[in-house]
Amino acid sequence: MERFYYVAAVTVVLLVLLHHLLMRRRKRHQRLPPGPRFAFPILGHLPLLKKPLQSSLADLAARHGPIVHLRLGARSAFVIGSASLAKECFSGELDVAIANRPHFPSVREASFDYSVLTLANYGAHWRTMRRVATVHLLSAHRVNVMSDSVIARELRAMVRRLARASAAAPGGVARVELKRRLFELSHSVLMEIMAQTRNTYSDDADEDMSKEAREMKGIIDAIVSLAGVANVWDYMPLLRWLDVYGVKRKLTDAVNRRNVFVYKMIDAEREKLKQLERKNGEGDANHSDDKLSMIGVMLSLQKTEPDVYTDTFINALVANLLGVATETTTTTLEWTMALLLNHTDVLKKAQEEIDSNVGEGRLLDKNDLPHLPYLHCIINETLRLYPAAPLLLPHEASTDCKIHGYDVPAGSMVLVNAYAIHRDPTIWEDPEEFRPERFEHGKAEGKFMMPFGMGRRKCPGENLAMRIMGLDLGMERLTWQQALAR
Ligand code: HEM
Repeated sequence: MERFYYVAAVTVVLLVLLHHLLMRRRKRHQRLPPGPRFAFPILGHLPLLKKPLQSSLADLAARHGPIVHLRLGARSAFVIGSASLAKECFSGELDVAIANRPHFPSVREASFDYSVLTLANYGAHWRTMRRVATVHLLSAHRVNVMSDSVIARELRAMVRRLARASAAAPGGVARVELKRRLFELSHSVLMEIMAQTRNTYSDDADEDMSKEAREMKGIIDAIVSLAGVANVWDYMPLLRWLDVYGVKRKLTDAVNRRNVFVYKMIDAEREKLKQLERKNGEGDANHSDDKLSMIGVMLSLQKTEPDVYTDTFINALVANLLGVATETTTTTLEWTMALLLNHTDVLKKAQEEIDSNVGEGRLLDKNDLPHLPYLHCIINETLRLYPAAPLLLPHEASTDCKIHGYDVPAGSMVLVNAYAIHRDPTIWEDPEEFRPERFEHGKAEGKFMMPFGMGRRKCPGENLAMRIMGLDLGMERLTWQQALAR
């Protein structure tokens, strides 16, 4: 028996040595891009990275060039920092080769085992989800239909709530917490689009969030902050196994709460669909998609292909879209408002544009947007300076490939620093300055920006996001008036 243990131990040591030697030999033959020389044992270059990550990576690019190689724990990462390399990455075969997503254990539970649209690997399942999202839920036609009904209705309701709060406040000036209100706005618009479930508000004029928005915000905040803490797990599995701070338990609890919330929305929509069918005649599934919410559309697809459009599929897509869409639009709106309040000349010009095109007597609607080019320039300039996903979403190479002649082994992470690319002084004059005029009269035509990404995994929500943000900013006149009066 003793002899067996001895042989087994020697075999394991030999195998580890062999693996190590083979990997070293393989690495020696690889042509990797430059990167910091010193790497810590186990952690690699992780301790060199500071927050905000995009600025830290931009500093590394300034030292090492437009493509930098890093070792993040056991992972190899390639950071892209120039427009020409970003274009190379997202065209032709390379776009396919890097279309996977890295799977971090900290988000496994919240992402239905990485099956949500943002994290699914490139393949049949991703294609089905992506088709549902782009063709049935977020197409230009649906965004148009939604702008007329749910988006405009929710925005008007918000303006009325704000006016009520102002009237009730001393001196007619209400104090609002902008971040909360913008979150509530994006969130309630999206909830309406998903389920057409009217949100419930209390009669309290100070109440800036519906009951549902507050509940979902609590859940999203919990998941985001817990996943943030759990992030160290991704590089130190021992912490994950020991679950030292009970993060795993709390995360499971938050994810369960989210699932109950979304399943409740699905059940309510299913009931509504049944009532609609009863009204139109038994078994009639012939209603126009335009009248249905996103969940309604997926439930009618479920009727023809129940094995594909399962309740879990619908839950995963709804939870994912709600999370991504609310976070990104809220962040961008918040930056826009902050930039406007700090640049009153821009604010005044935007207000004049709206006053002369829309007038004082009514709230603007989607037909006004094409006549408000300066408002559009403001949104573009905000997205240039503060893209909501400054490193896009991380990509992963599914096969060995080459970027700019360098070897990128399968399994490597590819990060594209859109934040740095948008501030490249060879493309943008005075890139750090907030100057919406740079987009006026087609002046920025041909200049490269990628706030929504590029290629196969480009954001499918761009149309909807631009519409929500345009309409919301246009309706923020009340807030602007108060800011300019001060
Ligand atoms: C200002 C608003 C938004 C910005 C700046 C933004 C930006 C982005 C970026 C940079 C990506 C990653 C692209 C890549 O991996 O290369 C992305 C992916 C995605 N976005 Fe958005 N987004 C916004 C709003 C929305 C909205 C409103 C929705 C849906 C309602 C949405 C749904 C998604 C989804 C599902 C993906 C993953 C696509 C995939 O992996 O195939 N986004 N977005």
